[in-house]
Amino acid sequence: MTSIQNNIRTMNTMFDLFDIQIKDKRLKSPIAIASMAGITNAEYIKNRAEWIGLACIGGYSIDKRTIEASHALVNREREEFLFSNQESALDAIEAQIKEISDSKVVICVNLRASNTESLVIAARRLGANIIYEIDAHCRQEEMIQAGCGEYLLTHTDILSQYISTLKAEGVLVSVKIRTGVCDDDAELAHLIWKAGADIIHIDCMDEGAKAVRKIRNACPLFIIGNNSISSFESAKEMLTYGADLISLARMSHPNVLSDLYNEMIRYVKEIGWYNVPKQLCRGGDIRSLAFCCPPVKPCPLLPFLQEIEVSPQEFMEMKNAGAGLPLMIGQETCFGSLVFCCKSSTPCFGRDRALRQASMSKTTYMKEKRALADKILSAVFA
Ligand SMILES: Cc1cc2nc3c(=O)[nH]c(=O)nc-3n(C[C@H](O)[C@H](O)[C@H](O)COP(=O)(O)O)c2cc1C
Ligand code: SF4
Ligand code: SF4
Repeated sequence: MTSIQNNIRTMNTMFDLFDIQIKDKRLKSPIAIASMAGITNAEYIKNRAEWIGLACIGGYSIDKRTIEASHALVNREREEFLFSNQESALDAIEAQIKEISDSKVVICVNLRASNTESLVIAARRLGANIIYEIDAHCRQEEMIQAGCGEYLLTHTDILSQYISTLKAEGVLVSVKIRTGVCDDDAELAHLIWKAGADIIHIDCMDEGAKAVRKIRNACPLFIIGNNSISSFESAKEMLTYGADLISLARMSHPNVLSDLYNEMIRYVKEIGWYNVPKQLCRGGDIRSLAFCCPPVKPCPLLPFLQEIEVSPQEFMEMKNAGAGLPLMIGQETCFGSLVFCCKSSTPCFGRDRALRQASMSKTTYMKEKRALADKILSAVFA
């Protein structure tokens, strides 16, 4: 086998190992790079492509008001990607995308826009192969005055329009938010989902990783968790609370990314589910329902079902309808089936004996539970 064939095989293995998909796009790693204006460009990504699945380049200002805001920010000694007008901004972004188009990294472009027309022009020019990320995050006064960034978190009707306008162009849409700006982030996530977005990219800032759990329980969007990730422990915490990816900006140094990637590979090989939740009674999110027993005893399950407006009967139907055949064994387990069994990390002789009898590895068991969790999520938010 040639070294090129070897590389392709390794790459395919990584896609299969993590099994992450955003609509038609497969990702080879749960690590993303979050945008940093004036810094995160094609060159920056090329030097980190080995370890990441998704790259948010930009933020790019793409119309008169936001381009003027970028120039004003540079006058205050902040770094920005500077353009003289919309046409030259789109030329430059297109060239950056082209430079990394064969990197096997999914490309996401973080955009600052002050009107829907600019987003339409960008989408028609840059095409449907990339993800469009609406910057509803920037808190610099000049950007807020230009009607983008954090402005959108307090003018959610405009944010909704941006999302639905982009979606009408047939592209994938992400919204980058900062938690703690809106009165209710769960409500915000719900609105972003209903407006048609595919991804919510959350800077958890002061609130930490638990903010992800709140949003995981409020919508079925693909979640990118962000803020202060610099180690496997901090990444794992966000993934455990429901993030599908984690992103790094300030700490996205090659050595940090490479360590993180190697740890993630070790973890997914050991567990089988790279962003496995905790059990519900230990603070898990909605996906933990895949590990819950039938609602027959006083425990956090019943109040949680009430919170997400699912009746006990509906819960039982979701579990039974969503489980794949391999989970329909284990008559001697507590509830007669692996569908109701706990995480593989919870020691249990009965479950392990059922797995042994079926010649099912613990990682396969956890992959089945992941598939069940996906189906429960879809059913709750159908
Ligand atoms: C210098 C700098 C520039 C940034 N520019 C943008 C931007 O243009 N758009 C955006 O959505 N976020 C921007 N961010 C926010 C980051 O993407 C990220 O959300 C934040 O830094 C927290 O993540 P971290 O702890 O991994 O750095 C910027 C951050 C920094 C430090
Ligand atoms: S049903 Fe079981 S796993 Fe779920 S919260 Fe109750 S005790 Fe915990
Ligand atoms: S048999 Fe073991 S894993 Fe299954 S529900 Fe009972 S305690 Fe949990």
